[in-house]
Amino acid sequence: MSLSLDALNLRRSVPSKQLTAPGPDAGTLRQLLEMAIRVPDHGKLTPWRMLLLEGEAKLAFGERLARIAVARNPDLPDSKREKEQRRYTFAPLVIAVIASPNADSKVPAIEQLMSAGAVCTNLLYGAQALGFGAQWLTGWAAYDDDAHALMGMAPHEKLIGFIHIGTPKIDVPERDRPKLNDHIHTWTP
Ligand SMILES: Cc1cc2nc3c(=O)[nH]c(=O)nc-3n(C[C@H](O)[C@H](O)[C@H](O)COP(=O)(O)O)c2cc1C
Repeated sequence: MSLSLDALNLRRSVPSKQLTAPGPDAGTLRQLLEMAIRVPDHGKLTPWRMLLLEGEAKLAFGERLARIAVARNPDLPDSKREKEQRRYTFAPLVIAVIASPNADSKVPAIEQLMSAGAVCTNLLYGAQALGFGAQWLTGWAAYDDDAHALMGMAPHEKLIGFIHIGTPKIDVPERDRPKLNDHIHTWTP
């Protein structure tokens, strides 16, 4: 088994607005999703699921979110409403990763949420390894009850991230990365 260290060392996000068609074809998407769910999972609870937003459904999704935003704020300027409508239309594929924690399990909820977070990370790495770009976004819809209902989420579920995936239009410049030494310490007794 070989693991490309470059894939780890060179990971970076491509902003969703810089993602375009083509996205993964059906076979490649299947491969990506299989890769994504190979996550650490305490208790083997599979406490997550993925909701795919593709094609015309992405605009329809944005339109429904914009309606929610206007209902909340009737004075929302047209420019902001339009921004809401278009938010999910740039990348050809958006995957909403939803945590479905099992409250009856002795595994703490945070561990189940982190397993769902690992699905998001796998999607980022997997998309990049397959030659695509990706970005993990949340935004207000990730925390809004009406948006959750639109996605068919149960009250106990959490929206962990929208992973936007497509072909990068640009070479994304490297950003400043954290200085490793600022984030490591060695425990001493
Ligand atoms: C849980 C989570 C939510 C995020 N939500 C947003 C977001 O809504 N908007 C945004 O600009 N970046 C968001 N980001 C950050 C981007 O995904 C990305 O990490 C950032 O642009 C830095 O790029 P990099 O991944 O190349 O380091 C989020 C990251 C995480 C982990």
